[in-house]
Amino acid sequence: MRRPFIAANWKMNKTLNEAKNFANEFKELVKDVSDTDILVCVPYTLLCSMKNELKGTNINIGAENVFYEDSGAYTGEISALMIKDFAEFVIVGHSERRKYFGETNDIVNKKIKKALEHDLKVVFCIGETLEKREKGITKEIVGKQVREGLSGLEVISEITIAYEPVWAIGTGKTATPEQAQEMHSFIRDLLEELFGEDAAEKTRILYGGSVKPHNVKELMEKQDIDGGLVGGASLDAESFSKIVKFKGQ
Ligand code: 13P
Repeated sequence: MRRPFIAANWKMNKTLNEAKNFANEFKELVKDVSDTDILVCVPYTLLCSMKNELKGTNINIGAENVFYEDSGAYTGEISALMIKDFAEFVIVGHSERRKYFGETNDIVNKKIKKALEHDLKVVFCIGETLEKREKGITKEIVGKQVREGLSGLEVISEITIAYEPVWAIGTGKTATPEQAQEMHSFIRDLLEELFGEDAAEKTRILYGGSVKPHNVKELMEKQDIDGGLVGGASLDAESFSKIVKFKGQ
C-alpha cells in the first residue's frame, strides 16, 4: 500500500559535466518506471542544472542539507526558500552531517520545521553507530533521534524517514534484511505512538547503508522497508537504475 521510494544521495560528488552525463543516461534508463517514486539528491551547485536536465521526467530532485533560518548573515549556508527554487525535497540529519558538522537532534528538528514551513518534503535520517549497537542501545538512540527530531510537529505527511545504520554506510556491510526490518518496525511503532496509526501506516521508511543492485530486492521484500536511500551505488546511472527497477532484479 505504501508506494516504493528509491532515493539517491550523491553526497560531495560530481562536477556539472558529470551530473549532466548522469542525467541524460539515467532518465532514459528509468523512463518507463511508473510504480516507484524516484529522487536524486545532489550538491547545491548542481540543483539548477539538474532541474533543467530532468524537467518533465519521473525523477524528483532534492538537496542534501538546509539551514534553519530564512536569510541573513550565515556565510556559506543555504535556506529552504533558496532550495525551493529548484527542488521539492531535502535530506535532513544525515549521519555525516551529525558526525562532521556537529548536527544535534535539536538542530535537525529546527531544520525539519523550517523545510516543512516552506513546503519542502523532508527525508529525515536516523541511525546508530557501531559503538552504540555493540553497547546494545540501538533502539534507545534511534528512538531519541525520532522523538527529538520530530518534536513539536503535529503532522508528518511530508516526511520520509531514512534508517541508516552508520556502520553500514559506505562500508559494503549491509544490515541483514532481518536487522533492518526489526528497526523499521520499531520506528513505525514509535510513529504510531507519537502521531497515530494512520500516520504511521502511511509514512515511508527507507533503508540506507550499502544498498546495491544485488541486495535491494531482499531488503524491499520486508514488510516495513518501503525504499532505499542510496549513496555509492547511486553515482552510476546504470547501477542506480537497477536499484530503482528492483522488481525486475
Ligand atoms: P552508501 O550507499 O554509500 O552506503 O551510503 C548510504 C548513505 O549514506 C545514503 O545517504
